[in-house]
Amino acid sequence: METLSITAFAPPAQLGPLDISIQQRISTEIDNLIEQLPGVESLTSEERRGIIARYSAVLEGNFIYWMTATLIAVRSAESRDIITANLFEEVRDSHPLMMRRFALAAHAFPTDGDALAVDADLTKVRLFMGKLESVPSLVAMAFFEGFIQRFMEYLAGLAAAQGSTEMVYTDVHGVCDIEHTQGLLRAISVESTSNPASEKVDLFEGVELLHGLIQTIVQG
Ligand SMILES: [Fe+2]
Repeated sequence: METLSITAFAPPAQLGPLDISIQQRISTEIDNLIEQLPGVESLTSEERRGIIARYSAVLEGNFIYWMTATLIAVRSAESRDIITANLFEEVRDSHPLMMRRFALAAHAFPTDGDALAVDADLTKVRLFMGKLESVPSLVAMAFFEGFIQRFMEYLAGLAAAQGSTEMVYTDVHGVCDIEHTQGLLRAISVESTSNPASEKVDLFEGVELLHGLIQTIVQG
């Protein structure tokens, strides 16, 4: 399983100081979350089920929604092309179906309790995405893609410990999201140059909200 850090990627062309600081912050936030993950063997079966179920409750219905919000928010044609290519794969290959099969095979399809456990944090992210701020939305999605890619090995380990052998979701996302993260970093660079007003907003608001949501997914 690939566990490349996004800082190891070839940088987008014409990388400015803002792009570098955004990438460093994203990378630090992801490292922080990955380091905090409890060992798979230290968890009970119910705790492992809960993490898969809460992750699935968030990802299945929201990933395409948030990427679509980001598509609506961006202004440059290049950013739109990058996000459209990402959405094309999500829809053509039905990643929500992949997610559902993964959860079902691990006997971790989300219950109402799992959905409600993430409700408050999920609502905050939905409302943030509804603000349709191009650069903060792109920064949030770059962080999320980068996190997902690093999280896949752990998620696969949880499912395997629950007796599942259905690993299409984790196999696909451990690889393709490397490209997606790179594309989003490029879009941040293009968008922040073509939209100087973006410097006046909190670029990391979405990252902080997603960070909180992921902690709730993991801790319950
Ligand atoms: Fe996906």
